[in-house]
Amino acid sequence: MIVSSAEFLTSAVRPDQYPHTGYPEVAFAGRSNVGKSSLINTLVNRRRLVKTSSTPGRTQLINFFAVNERLCLVDLPGYGYARVPAAVKRTWGPMIETYLKGRATLAAVVLIMDIRRIPGLEERNFIDWLALYQRTPVLVLTKADKLSKTKRINQQQAISAALDVARPELLLFSAKTRLGKATVWSAIAKAAFGERHDLK
Ligand code: GTP
Ligand code: MG
Repeated sequence: MIVSSAEFLTSAVRPDQYPHTGYPEVAFAGRSNVGKSSLINTLVNRRRLVKTSSTPGRTQLINFFAVNERLCLVDLPGYGYARVPAAVKRTWGPMIETYLKGRATLAAVVLIMDIRRIPGLEERNFIDWLALYQRTPVLVLTKADKLSKTKRINQQQAISAALDVARPELLLFSAKTRLGKATVWSAIAKAAFGERHDLK
């Protein structure tokens, strides 16, 4: 996947603040600190296009990024998990739900999970909730560099059982080593543009 341009468009809380690009959009969801922003940076070959942090809850708004002037990547705040004040948290759920429910140009949702952790009710509820809107997320297991190759496969298997999905549907990824970058790109491009995998 050749990324010739990647730029920050805008941050939004409410629908009237979303950009009007008309590009298909791919949104990145997952627990706080799981590596959503790092994954986007890796995809677009930029170290700091999206701010990342070791402190959970770094991303607090819906951030829109344009790629090659034809695709929008959307960084969502950690879905309801962040260690942030309750008052802030109460506004996040509705903010993210409103976006995911109502955004006409949304082509795909990528659910990012830490490969070291067996997903719980939150992830299963999120997947079920998306299914209500006929959406099947692209599932990514990130931070794969933290485990040995054998342990990765074992975890992938355990997570596939926990989520009741086939093991190959769980894409292994690492922002550190860039493992899985091409695979994640092709899943995204397929969702956004059909079978055409070129983003040029
Ligand atoms: P919030 O915006 O707070 O919801 O977090 P986020 O999901 O956007 O996570 P972010 O990308 O900011 O990454 C959180 C921490 O995990 C940072 O310290 C990253 O450097 C680290 N990290 C992210 N991806 C990887 C990875 O693939 N491997 C390793 N080793 N560390 C990673
Ligand atoms: Mg973030």
